[in-house]
Amino acid sequence: MKIVEDVKEMQKLSKDLKRDKTIGFVPTMGFLHEGHLSLARKAKEQNDIVVMSVFVNPLQFAEGEDFDTYPRDRKRDEELAEKAGVDILFFPSEEDMYPEDFQTHVNVEKLTQVLEGASRPLFFKGVTTVVCKLFNIVKPDRAYFGRKDAQQLIVVKKMVEDLNMDVEIVPMPIVREQDGLATSSRNRYLNEEERKSAVCLYKALKKARQMVEKGTLDTKTIIQNMEKIISSYPFTRIDYISINRTDDLKPLKHIETGKTLISLAVFVGKTRLIDNIWM
Ligand code: PAF
Repeated sequence: MKIVEDVKEMQKLSKDLKRDKTIGFVPTMGFLHEGHLSLARKAKEQNDIVVMSVFVNPLQFAEGEDFDTYPRDRKRDEELAEKAGVDILFFPSEEDMYPEDFQTHVNVEKLTQVLEGASRPLFFKGVTTVVCKLFNIVKPDRAYFGRKDAQQLIVVKKMVEDLNMDVEIVPMPIVREQDGLATSSRNRYLNEEERKSAVCLYKALKKARQMVEKGTLDTKTIIQNMEKIISSYPFTRIDYISINRTDDLKPLKHIETGKTLISLAVFVGKTRLIDNIWM
């Protein structure tokens, strides 16, 4: 596995590789877990070369969020990426990505006003800006995004469509721990007791799925039942529970089968966790 730190070097390498090879790209902020590795393995299946980036993007963290404490472990990331079949691991520096006079941003306007965007107003502008830059550097044929960050996936797809970017976005299923908690680098912030409570997100989503399967389509009733489950676990505080259409993220009064995203963000202790199901 080759390690590249310099943006220009990565750009040149990709340009040369693209002459006769396809590139699959997995953008990450590092501290890799099974979710990231499943993306890398899929990229390996579908492309000649797999590039993974590790960059904790300051632009997508607001004041007071966890940019400084976000878990970082480069050596571990290198080992795990290599085992998952990554060919090139790209570790750009902050100075190289955002030089002093950096002043251009990419913003998907409407899809970013709700859900995560309502709670974290700067987040998506930071994500789309860095993903656009990474696409221009890595020049992937395909890029892999987990459904865990459902809105991120929807927003990135919209950016690619609106800006005619020549890359296929491949959505990948959520990877879960044994008890159902979605894998996330932020899970490591949870202490033992909080970790037990963190399963409430999955339990609430499971309840929602059961209700829909049994014929309850009224979203208000489903959300009330989800709230009840979350509130029965200690250390939890609901940020939002929402049921939206998957294409335009409009809130739904009734479940539309095949077009519905049920998503939630919950603080467990100080850690904010997100999860969702598509149905
Ligand atoms: O999902 C993430 O880890 C990040 O938002 C991404 C896509 C790597 C952009 O920084």
